[in-house]
Amino acid sequence: MVVMENVRKVYESSNTVALENVSFTINDGEFVFLVGPSGSGKTTLMKLITGEVRPTAGTVIVNDFNMGAIKRRKLPKMRRTLGVVFQDYRLIENMNVYDNVAFAMRVVGAPNSEIRKRVPYMLELVGLEGREKRMPTELSGGEQQRVAIARALVNSPRMIVADEPTGNLDPVRSLELMLLLEKINEMGTTVVVVTHEKELVNAFSKRVIKIDSGKMIGDGMDGYYE
Ligand SMILES: Nc1ncnc2c1ncn2[C@@H]1O[C@H](COP(=O)(O)OP(=O)(O)OP(=O)(O)O)[C@@H](O)[C@H]1O
Ligand SMILES: [Mg+2]
Repeated sequence: MVVMENVRKVYESSNTVALENVSFTINDGEFVFLVGPSGSGKTTLMKLITGEVRPTAGTVIVNDFNMGAIKRRKLPKMRRTLGVVFQDYRLIENMNVYDNVAFAMRVVGAPNSEIRKRVPYMLELVGLEGREKRMPTELSGGEQQRVAIARALVNSPRMIVADEPTGNLDPVRSLELMLLLEKINEMGTTVVVVTHEKELVNAFSKRVIKIDSGKMIGDGMDGYYE
């Protein structure tokens, strides 16, 4: 779950108030779109959730961790409760599809027997069976995006946060990806999708949190973004 209370984020270097007085709660099991125009503060919100940036003021709680006060050495433990999908995938270029996903399990010390069961299951879930040996450069954009999702989910996080996950996909692939995230949500994972794609948001009937110029301008179940 995510709790934001009167969150303010100022980037001193650019003298920018990126977020001002933002408050909302996302409960376990929810599916939420976080929307707004370019520069409105969406990625900043996501980085507050992952712990990449800290709030200037206000409270950020993620899966029971207080992100404004969390000790650096506690961050890995917190991050293990979270699956993150970056806009630019961030796949490991010299590892094949299987190893990109398996690596996420190896770094948290999962036993090999578990890795051998879990990785094929995840690759099947995202529709990448048969692609195990391919290198990232031998995949389409949509396939790379699905590797990133498999990797984010492989350690069974409580929540997955995806920043513009459909950024480089065509409309059909974008819709497929959203349906996949919906399926993952139905299996119990909390899903937060950051996007500025109106058509996509409006094709679903989900909770939509809207921000503009760093301020919350809407939060509703209407699922509409105009
Ligand atoms: N690391 C940073 N240092 C200084 N200013 C920043 C930094 N990151 C973002 N900003 C500024 O903070 C504001 C919000 O940026 P943010 O990246 O959160 O927007 P966004 O909604 O994700 O935009 P986009 O849709 O273009 O990705 C912008 O004015 C941006 O220039
Ligand atoms: Mg952004």
